[in-house]
Amino acid sequence: MAEPAAVAESAPLMAAVERGTVCLVSRLDADLHGNKGMLALLSDDRHRDRFDASELALLDRFLPWTRLARARVTDRSACWRTHRHTGRTWFSSRHCCTEVPAGGPVRRRGALWSPTRSTADDLAAPDGGATLTIVCVDDYRAPARARLAAHNWDYIEGGSGAELTLDANRQAFDAVHLKPRVLVDVSACSSALQLLGADLATPIGVAPTAFHRMAHPDGECATARGAGAAGALTVVSMFSSRTLEEVAAAAHCPLWMQLYWLRDRRQLADLAQRAERAGYRALVLTVDTPQLAQRRRDVRNAFVLDPDIEPANLPPVHSAAQHHRQEGRSALAQHAAQSFDASITWADLAWLREITALPLVVKGILTAEDARLAVEHGAAGVIVSNHGGRQLDGAVPSLVALPEVVAAVAGRCPVLVDGSVRSGRDVFVALALGAGAVLVGRPVLWGLAVSGAEGVADVLTMLNRELTEVMALAGRPRLTDIDRSAIR
Ligand SMILES: Cc1cc2nc3c(=O)[nH]c(=O)nc-3n(C[C@H](O)[C@H](O)[C@H](O)COP(=O)(O)O)c2cc1C
Repeated sequence: MAEPAAVAESAPLMAAVERGTVCLVSRLDADLHGNKGMLALLSDDRHRDRFDASELALLDRFLPWTRLARARVTDRSACWRTHRHTGRTWFSSRHCCTEVPAGGPVRRRGALWSPTRSTADDLAAPDGGATLTIVCVDDYRAPARARLAAHNWDYIEGGSGAELTLDANRQAFDAVHLKPRVLVDVSACSSALQLLGADLATPIGVAPTAFHRMAHPDGECATARGAGAAGALTVVSMFSSRTLEEVAAAAHCPLWMQLYWLRDRRQLADLAQRAERAGYRALVLTVDTPQLAQRRRDVRNAFVLDPDIEPANLPPVHSAAQHHRQEGRSALAQHAAQSFDASITWADLAWLREITALPLVVKGILTAEDARLAVEHGAAGVIVSNHGGRQLDGAVPSLVALPEVVAAVAGRCPVLVDGSVRSGRDVFVALALGAGAVLVGRPVLWGLAVSGAEGVADVLTMLNRELTEVMALAGRPRLTDIDRSAIR
C-alpha cells in the first residue's frame, strides 16, 4: 500500500479538519504520537453523513492507513501530524507499520475506548463492533489518551532524546524468562510487606509524577485515594498540582515526598519541613535531574502548563515560569534551568538530613558506585531509576542496573526500582532481581485520567492481582521466596 502523501495537500481534508468533521484524536489511534493535529478519522458509518463527497472519498482512501496506524509500531517516529499554524498534515514513519492493527472499541465503566493487540480479522471488521473489557494495565493507555489534551499526553508518555532508554526499559523486562517451581503449596500467596516501617498490602507503589491535574481535576488527591484503596505507597512529586497538605488529608496510604534540589534552599527546607509536619514518612531526593533533558515532544509542542494547573507546593514565581510559552522550548525545561541547583554533590546531602528527621531515599541511582555513596551518605533507601527514560537518553535500563545496585547496597537499605513496570510479571522479575518494591509512573496517570481514584486503584490492584497469580504459578507463595532462581 502506498503511503498517502497527498494528504498533506488535501484542501477538502484540511477544511474538514477546520470544521471539526475530522476528529483529531479518536479511538482509532494507538501507539502514535499525539498532538492536536493527529489525524484519526472518525470513520464508522454513523458519522459518514457528516462528510461531503470529496471528504468521504478521502476518508475511504486513508482509512486503511489510519487502521494500520493503530497497529503497534516499532518506530516511535511514526505519526500523523498537522502543523499547528500551516495546517499541513503528514504521516511519517521510518519503517512503517508491520504488525496488524488493534481491535475494536472497548467499553468499560462508561464510554472508554481501548485498543488491544489483535488479529488480522480486525482490519476487516467494521468499527464500533465488539465490546471488549479492560483486562490489563496497557488497556488503560488508549482511553487515557483519548481523554487528555494532546500536549499533555505527549508530556506524560514521552522520553528524552530518541527515547532509547524509554524503549530499553521495556525490552529489559520482556527479555527475562521465569523458572516456575511446581508442587509447592501456593494456596495462600501474600504480597504484603513492610517498607521503612510502613505496612503495605503490595510491593507496587506510585512513582512521583508531576501535575496530576493534567489527568484529573482532583489530581494527586484522587491518586492518593486510589493508592490507599489498593494498600499501596504513594510518592508525591514536588511538582504536584495539589498541595502536599491537601494530598495528606485525602490519603489513606503511606506517603513519601519527592524533592528536586532547588537553588533556593529556604524553599527546599520549607518543603521538607512541611512534609514532615503533614505526616509524610520519607523524603525522596531525585538525583538524576541536575537539568531537564531535552524531551523532543515537549520542545515540538512548545510545552507549557495549562492555565489552570500549577505547582501547588511552590511560590507563584515557579508557576509563572511554567506557563511562559516560547516556540521551540519546553517551559518546564526552562523553569528547571532557572530553579534547579546543578552544583550539588554528595556532601550536600548532610544539610538535607540535618533539617529533617525523615528518612532520606535517593532516587535515580543506576550504578554500584553511586549506590555505595548513597548508603555512605545516609540514604535509608535507594530507587534504581532512569526517570522513566526521561533524563539521560541511552542510560542503562533500570532493570539491567538493578542487580549491581542490589549487590553494592548489600542489604543495608531497601532498593526499589521503576521504569516500564506494566504487569505483575514485571513486578515479579524486579523482585527476583533483588528489588524490595517497585514504583509505577505512567500507568497510574492512565488510570487517573480514565476514572480518577477508581482508575488508580484499578491499575494498582490489577498489577497486584497479576503478581500474586505469577507467584502462584511460579511456585513462590511469599515475596521472600522470589529470588534469582526464579528467573533466567
Ligand atoms: C509525566 C511524568 C512526570 C514525572 N515527574 C517526576 C517528578 O516530578 N519527580 C520525579 O522524581 N520523577 C518524575 N517522573 C519519573 C517517575 O518518578 C518514574 O521514575 C517513571 O515514571 C517510571 O517509569 P514508568 O512511567 O515507565 O513507570 C515523572 C515521570 C512521568 C512519566
